[in-house]
Amino acid sequence: MFVTGGAGFVGSHVVDGLVREGAAVVVYDDFRRGRMANLEWAMANGDVKVIEGDIADRGHLAQAISGADLVSHQASLWLWECESDPREALEVNIVGTFNVLEASVEAGVVKIVMASSSSVYGEACSLPTDEDHPFNNDFFYGATKVADEQLARAFYRKYGLKYICLRYLNVYGPRQDYRSAYVSVITNFINRVAEGEPPIIFGDGNETLDLVYVEDVAKANIVALKSGLEAEVLNVASGRETTLRELADAVLEVMGSDLVPTIENRERGLVVRRWGSTEKAEALLGFRATVGVREGLRRLISWRDQDILREGGG
Ligand SMILES: NC(=O)c1ccc[n+]([C@@H]2O[C@H](COP(=O)([O-])OP(=O)(O)OC[C@H]3O[C@@H](n4cnc5c(N)ncnc54)[C@H](O)[C@@H]3O)[C@@H](O)[C@H]2O)c1
Repeated sequence: MFVTGGAGFVGSHVVDGLVREGAAVVVYDDFRRGRMANLEWAMANGDVKVIEGDIADRGHLAQAISGADLVSHQASLWLWECESDPREALEVNIVGTFNVLEASVEAGVVKIVMASSSSVYGEACSLPTDEDHPFNNDFFYGATKVADEQLARAFYRKYGLKYICLRYLNVYGPRQDYRSAYVSVITNFINRVAEGEPPIIFGDGNETLDLVYVEDVAKANIVALKSGLEAEVLNVASGRETTLRELADAVLEVMGSDLVPTIENRERGLVVRRWGSTEKAEALLGFRATVGVREGLRRLISWRDQDILREGGG
């Protein structure tokens, strides 16, 4: 098993899941966001080899991937990185994914499961949003994910490389980055409350997210890798909407704070509503998310507290 981005947030949970299945895993990550700490459990409990490398480096990647039968492709720049440097987004997310697909074909890989995103939908025209929804995206990040899905289709037609693209909704949980300049909404709320500041809601508070817990996302990846499916695109969603106001309240409750969220008008946010249809993934993979928002938040916040202590930042 070859996992690109395996030292990152989602990727490291996929690696944990593979180790639990008894698989030998090669992690390929350039550590621009990944951390060795994310792989501690997997390395202590399984057969895990880590190769530091960049998916944009075609030759090195091709060498590293040789011998793999299955590939989990998680390496990618995320939304704000793509917005701040669109050319780097092209190099990593599109050319890098091309390299992963090409190297997979050359190595005789049977199947690749790739991380896509609900960003491909842009602002939803229909809810819950299913996989037939048009590509209404107008961000660079979403554009790279649309391109990646299309590349997977083309590699399948030409070379027979089986693929499953998983469109994650809003993933959250332990190992989620809370230290960078750009963090997710959920992390922003938690960071503010931890500093004794009220969470700031940009918008009117009725905007929604479909919050899917990271271990559920990892599970979806494992069942996709093991399944007999090929050439499919599937949502990985909780199938529930949570408003930003509900999320802020839940963060405050779990953190035991009586602060009151602040509402600030936004210029242009990401999307107004996110609510993914779970029907196709349930029907084809038997996948269903199981961890609810409060439980997921408890686990995330408790991990974050421990991580700050161990990094000596607390
Ligand atoms: N987190 C979410 O809410 C979410 C939602 C939708 C889709 N996704 C997708 O899921 C995947 C995993 O995201 P994540 O949240 O774990 O992000 P992450 O940044 O934690 O993980 C990405 C990993 O890829 C590595 N990486 C980046 N560029 C690389 C390169 N050029 N070569 C090798 N490694 C490289 C990073 O070091 C990191 O370890 C990504 O493809 C992302 O687009 C995430």
